[in-house]
Amino acid sequence: MPPHASPSDIPTPKTAFKASSHASDGKTHILLAATGSVASIKIPLILSSLSKYSNISIRLVFTTSSLLFLPPLTELLEIPNVDGIHLDHHEWPEGLSSTPTEAELSDTPEAVPSDTPEAETAIWAKIGDPILHIELRRWADILIIAPLSANSLAKIVGGFSDNLLLSVVRAWDVGKVIAVAPAMNTLMWDHPVTGRQIGVLEGEWGWFRVLRPVEKVLACGDSGSGAMKEWSSIVEWVVGEMKLTVEEGV
Ligand SMILES: Cc1cc2nc3c(=O)[nH]c(=O)nc-3n(C[C@H](O)[C@H](O)[C@H](O)COP(=O)(O)O)c2cc1C
Repeated sequence: MPPHASPSDIPTPKTAFKASSHASDGKTHILLAATGSVASIKIPLILSSLSKYSNISIRLVFTTSSLLFLPPLTELLEIPNVDGIHLDHHEWPEGLSSTPTEAELSDTPEAVPSDTPEAETAIWAKIGDPILHIELRRWADILIIAPLSANSLAKIVGGFSDNLLLSVVRAWDVGKVIAVAPAMNTLMWDHPVTGRQIGVLEGEWGWFRVLRPVEKVLACGDSGSGAMKEWSSIVEWVVGEMKLTVEEGV
């Protein structure tokens, strides 16, 4: 098996990401996310194709499960216009659960003691510090989740927010679009609960666009619907939606 991505590829930065520092860069801000489906192997192709467009800035959010299907993350940072990769551990100090207790929340100034290494990182330490998932939502002009796993689909519809991606989705400004490209086994896609969940996204939540799966032989050998929409069609959709252009001489 080729080497795959690991959370340690991207240590927690020393300084916090702030959307306001990029607000007047004149670029279209594309937040691209992947979840734990084999179709995440298409992320490098999506990025390489998007990277040729002018005046765009791409940031990436990956769930931990998706990392199994991605190359070492530093390789993705070498693609033009990829300006950052954000992972779960960039929000939370090691050893703290993603669901802090009441006691932890009421004791926030001491949550990260000033003499610990965490105090030198971008992890939130005190009131007023930037909160990564909120900053990413402020920064993004669009969020694309390609692929979207059955698990993350269910969590989105259920309102869960127990990782960085789901927190961005849960805190989303519904005046902006979230596009999702579901990818799962045919029987998962055909399960009635999937239909209900897609129905919520398409029928009730007007800020979602579902880039529906296609039929093919899946990675598991089953044949039928559930495969992620062709990566080039996803790029084509994003280019049209965001009116991306290639400037001459670029
Ligand atoms: C090799 C492998 C392939 C998988 N492919 C898919 C898939 O295509 N779609 C899917 O919904 N889940 C798939 N899963 C299961 C998800 O990875 C699992 O439900 C995981 O919890 C998803 O987490 P996430 O939604 O936080 O990324 C796969 C798991 C493995 C081990």
